[in-house]
This record gives sequence, C-alpha cells and structure tokens, in this order.
Amino acid sequence: MNTKILPASPESIRAAAEALRRGELVAIPTETVYGLAAHALDEKAVASVFSAKERPTFDPLIVHVAFENLQAPLRELSRLGLVDETALSPTARETADFLLQTFWPGPFTLVLPKNPRVPDLVTSGLPSVAVRMPRHPIAEALLRESGLPLAAPSANRFGRISPTSAQDVLKELRGRIPWILDGGPCEIGVESTVLQILPDGTLHLLRPGAIFKAEIEHYAEAPVHSGPAVTQPGTPAASPGTLASHYAPSKPLFLGDPESLAGKVPSSTRHIGFLAAQGDEAEILHRLEKIFPTQKITLRILSPEGDDDEAARNLFSHLRTLDESSAEILLSEKYPDREGLAHAIRDRLKRAKR
Ligand code: TXA
Ligand code: MG
Repeated sequence: MNTKILPASPESIRAAAEALRRGELVAIPTETVYGLAAHALDEKAVASVFSAKERPTFDPLIVHVAFENLQAPLRELSRLGLVDETALSPTARETADFLLQTFWPGPFTLVLPKNPRVPDLVTSGLPSVAVRMPRHPIAEALLRESGLPLAAPSANRFGRISPTSAQDVLKELRGRIPWILDGGPCEIGVESTVLQILPDGTLHLLRPGAIFKAEIEHYAEAPVHSGPAVTQPGTPAASPGTLASHYAPSKPLFLGDPESLAGKVPSSTRHIGFLAAQGDEAEILHRLEKIFPTQKITLRILSPEGDDDEAARNLFSHLRTLDESSAEILLSEKYPDREGLAHAIRDRLKRAKR
C-alpha cells in the first residue's frame, strides 16, 4: 500500500471523510498528537486500526466526537449511541457534564459507562468507553464532514513514540495506511489527559496530560484519585495506558543526572544521545564532555528556558531524533518536579526508560 501525505485542504477533508465512511483508515492531526482514525461503530474498520498499529486488543481506543451543543454533552453522547448516561448517578452526571462543558473541545478524555452499540473491540470488552472532542481545526472539520464518531489511537506502532507531525506518522505507518492528513506540528505534544468517572461520581486520573489534576479538582469540587480505577467491585480496571513501558524508543534509555548515569554506559559505547530538560547548550555539552570524554554526544534540550509548554511540544520529536541518530544509548535528565504539564512530561519519560 502506498501511503500519501495530503495537505489538509477542504477537498482532502471531503475525500478523507468518504474514505472513513467506506471503513478505511486516515491519520489525522490533533492538538495533542496525530491519531489513526476509523469509524468507531464499524467493527471491521476498528479491527484494521489494531492490525496497522500491531496493537494488542486488550488496549482500548478513544472515540473522538464533535458536536455544536455543549449545553448537555452527556445527552448528546447518549444520542450518538456511545455512552449510557443512565448508568451514572445524578451527581456523577452533573459532574461529567460540567467537566465536559469546561474542557471540551480540548485535550481531555473522559471514560464513561459504555452504550451497548459501541463494539467491544473499541473498549477491549470493558464496560466503559473513552470519549474526547479534540480542538484541532482539521480534526474538527473531518469529524463534522464525516458525521462519524472516530476511534483514534495515537498513530504509532504499539509501544513506540507517539507522532507529533505528519512525517513522524509516515515513519511509523508507511505502507500500512493509505492517507495522512498534514496539519503541521502538534500544538501540545503529549497525549490527552484521561479521567475516569465511576457510576458513583468518583474520579480517577488514568493518564496525566495538558488538563491538570488540580484544575479538574477545582471544577469538579471533588478529589481526583491517582492509580487504577475499579470498574466492577473488587476488580481493578485494565488501564493499559498505565503499562510501565508504553512510549519507548527502540534504544535503551536511562533516566537520571549525567554523573550518576556514567556507570550505565558500557566503555565500548561510541555515541551517546542526551536529552536535557533545560539550560544552555554550550554549558551542558561542556559538562557532558567531562563525564564522557571519549564518546560522541548528540544533545537535545526540551526547553532551554525551562518552559513546560515548549518542553512538551519537543518531547516526542526530540526522543525520536535521538532514537534515529547513530547513538547506541540514550540518557535523559529527570524533568523538574513541578505541577502541571511537567507531571505529564515526567510520566512519559518514566515510561520511555529501561
Ligand atoms: O491525545 C490523545 O488522547 C490521542 C489523540 C489521537 O487523541 N490519542 C491517544 O490514544 O493517545 P491512545 O490509544 O494512544 O491512548 C488511549 C488511552 C490508553 O491509555 C487507553 O488504555 C485509555 O486511553 N483508554 C481508552 N479507553 C479506556 C477505557 N474504557 N478505560 C480505561 N482506559 C481507557
Ligand atoms: Mg498511544
């Protein structure tokens, strides 16, 4: 199969919408990372997402939607045949509606009780479904043009680095999908926040992202628990996004300060890839050359000024650059322990390490 990158014009959006209606796959830009989209209620189309990504079927997908009226999002999601709002208590319903009104469209995914119409393949047989309304203009235009709910995991092969540009998608999925819509580099750079709401209204943060725990707690006026949620009394929910290793480069990556990492580098190593959190390039190189005097060093800095937004935007593309270089081993500083996006960056780095 020949994979083509299309500039996101009105014509290509129309053609992509038709392809999706026929059950084909289209890679699309979103504000977080690129997604691999399929008609969410078409089981065959969804099956081809899993095979293109080599994704195990125990890892459920996020269903993307777009609709005008955000007055009553739960009612709209039920009407679309995605969610069963009657499974939620009145308080849970009120909280869910308010969070969706507050954070949609945007990098916020809510896990809600599932409508039986959603194929089990989408949700890996879980009684819940993850939904998100992205705020990227091209994703929105395609959702509206197609009129379909779109199941879209990140457009990388399973376990690899999420793509943040059309070129990155091509590197991951060339020959496996027909089309990639090019929307330029992603604005946020890390995947959406995933929050689960249980029937009684309890909130669990399944994946940190650009909507922060403290913001959610503020608007929900309720605590947000970290760690696995419980879907049936006594059973921890499968939440594969929390797999220990999930965003790994293909080379070994170690996390820590360079002095303490020196011991991890075999003396035969010729080339080291180093990911710094912040700081001045010349100073960092000077410090590294003292620790690794005989090795070539390729350095990438997440944000020289220490800006978390910039660091998140650069995270996956820098990791990918280092992974593609001839470095045999990757070292990364720990990202500063700050509230907000720093939390998501630390989370992704922890998963990328060996
Ligand atoms: O920003 C994003 O969310 C991107 C863009 C394309 O929208 N998508 C994305 O999809 O990151 P993916 O498949 O790479 O990650 C989806 C996450 C996984 O960690 C999955 O386990 C979790 O959402 N998830 C999906 N459905 C779930 C469910 N019913 N219960 C618990 N976790 C669920
Ligand atoms: Mg992913």
